This record gives sequence, C-alpha cells and structure tokens, in this order.
Amino acid sequence: MTDSSVINSVTITKPDDWHVHLRDNPYLNSVITDTANRFARAIVMPNLQNPIITADLARSYRDRILKALPENLHGRFEPLMTLYLTNQTTSDDIIKSRKSGFIPAVKWYPAGATTNSDKGVTDINQCHTVLKTMEDVGMILLVHGEVTDPSIDVFDREAQFIEQFLSKTVQNFPDLKIVFEHITTEQAVSFVMNAGPNVAATITAHHMLLNRNALFQGGIRPHHYCLPVLKREKHRQALITAATSDSKKFFLGTDSAPHTKTSKEAACGCAGIYTAHGAIELYAEIFDKTDALDKLEAFASFNGPDFYSLPRNRETIVLTRKQQKVPSSMTFGDEVCIPFRADGYLEWTLI
Ligand code: NCD
Ligand code: ZN
Repeated sequence: MTDSSVINSVTITKPDDWHVHLRDNPYLNSVITDTANRFARAIVMPNLQNPIITADLARSYRDRILKALPENLHGRFEPLMTLYLTNQTTSDDIIKSRKSGFIPAVKWYPAGATTNSDKGVTDINQCHTVLKTMEDVGMILLVHGEVTDPSIDVFDREAQFIEQFLSKTVQNFPDLKIVFEHITTEQAVSFVMNAGPNVAATITAHHMLLNRNALFQGGIRPHHYCLPVLKREKHRQALITAATSDSKKFFLGTDSAPHTKTSKEAACGCAGIYTAHGAIELYAEIFDKTDALDKLEAFASFNGPDFYSLPRNRETIVLTRKQQKVPSSMTFGDEVCIPFRADGYLEWTLI
C-alpha cells in the first residue's frame, strides 16, 4: 500500500545555480554537462589558476564554456560570469564588466581564504572606490566570508568575518547588493535575516546534508573537506531552517568545486566538494526530509533571479522519488574526480 500523503514527484520552474566552479579546459569539458543539464543559468566563479580579473578574460572564459556545451544543450544554458576582485581592480573594470551584459557580479576573495585566492583582496579598504562604483552601477558583490588570520580557529572564521569586515561593508555601502556566499553558521543566517533587502545568501546542499562529524567518520574524509569547512549540527539545522523558510534572502548555490582525486587524497588536500552530478536532486532530498518540498521552487528558482533582477526561467523540471546510483569516480580531464556520495545513492532523480 502506498501512503497517499507521500509526495513522489515535484514539478518546479527550472532552477539556477548561483555559485559554481566550472574550472577550465581540459576539466571544464568533464563537468559542464552536469550543471547545464540541471540549471538554466549559473554564476561561474572566477578563481581559475589565472583568475578572471578583466571583462575581456571573462568574455573568453564564457566562450570556452559555451563551446564545451554538448550540442543538445546549445542555447539552453547561460553562464553568468564574475569578476575576481583584486587590490588593483579599477572603477573602469567594473563599468566595462557591467556594460558587457554577462557579468552581473564581482567576487571578493580575502587573499588566502580558499582555492586560488592568493591574488585576492589583502585590504578591503583599498577597494572603497571600486565598491562605490559597484553600488552606483548596480554591480553585485559576492563574498567569500572568512577571515584569513591563522590565529583564528578555522571553525570561527565565518562568524569573525561578519564582525570584522562584512558588517562594516554593509554599513558603508547601504545600496550595494551583497551575496554572502555558501553560508555555514547560525551567525551568518541571522546576519542576513537582520540586514536590509540588499543582503542575501547562497546555501550549498552539502552544508545542509553534513555536519563536521562527516570529516572524521571512521577516519579522515578528504572528500568532505571544503571551505568554509563543515560546522556543528546546530549550524546545519540553522541553514535548513533558513532555506526552507519563507524568506526571499536565501537561494541555491551549489559551490560544486571539483578537484582531482590525487589533489584531494593528499597530505595537504584541496578544499572543494563536487555535487553538480546530483545538485538539484540533493536539494530535493533535503527539502523532502524537512517536509518542505513546497518551498523548494522559491529557494531554487525564484529567490535568486529576483535578487539579481533577472527574469525567472520559463521551463519546468520534474523530480521523482527514485534512487540513482552515484559512480565511484568520474572522468575529470585526464584524471578522475570523486563525486559526492561516490558509490552511494541519490534519493531523487531528475526526469
Ligand atoms: C572552492 C574551489 O575549490 O574553487 N573550494 C571550496 O572548498 N568551496 C573555492 C571556494 O568556493 O571556497
Ligand atoms: Zn566556491
């Protein structure tokens, strides 16, 4: 007998991924289809080995992404590009990017905070003119919100960033649209909730599925290591509450961040979890487990475009409650990448 109260399928407006790492050739070819199959648009992170610091670099990166799309997805996926903020970024760079029409946002990486962030911002006070220009021309600021001071406990770096940097930036630029990226703590949730409508946040699936115990389950688990690092259970719960609430300030950003198996399984392994192969399915699982499947569409498909002042997508997708097996590894350039839940199962399937 089937329980008639159980929802076995949901139809939602096609979602967008507001934070993804697509890397570059030869790796780009291996990952683009997973994202483009599920999402109509994606905010593509600029932290390549040679970061995307000008509109021209963004244009050629965008061309490479479009070229990497399989034929059936041509015209069906739009990469939205981001500019990597440095101490040397000029107001001209911002204006040129804004005029391009395909660069809605600028990414602030505190130098040293994460993968390929060494050319990032060492002192945000040097960027005031640029932030003012962004505020004036309606360019969105995306923030990797962690302090880099090695004396600060790694689990406290996001909360410290709010106190030391983010609250001041929000105060100094009251009309600047800011997305606090991949938030991981209850402090971040309440900061965003209490800020004005110009401040929003993305939430990953993995930060809602795992707490920090997953890093040490029977041994060290490099494939659960990402930045910001997984946090305590109470923080995971706060993220789920925010994502499934009626607030329009929280939206989907996978932070899918593929690395080679060898660079993860190393004495000093890279940060990043690959989730693009099951991105929307994982969010469906989270919302289902919270009895909030009716809130999935706003989180995945409405709140993001509304914040970015972009049209909502017209197409729809259907997700069904059907398990799918995750391969133990996937091709990644001429190497392999270990996907999230490798050799395990996703509980939902995209038709
Ligand atoms: C990202 C990457 O590998 O590029 N890693 C991660 O752990 N999330 C960078 C980032 O978003 O911090
Ligand atoms: Zn990221």
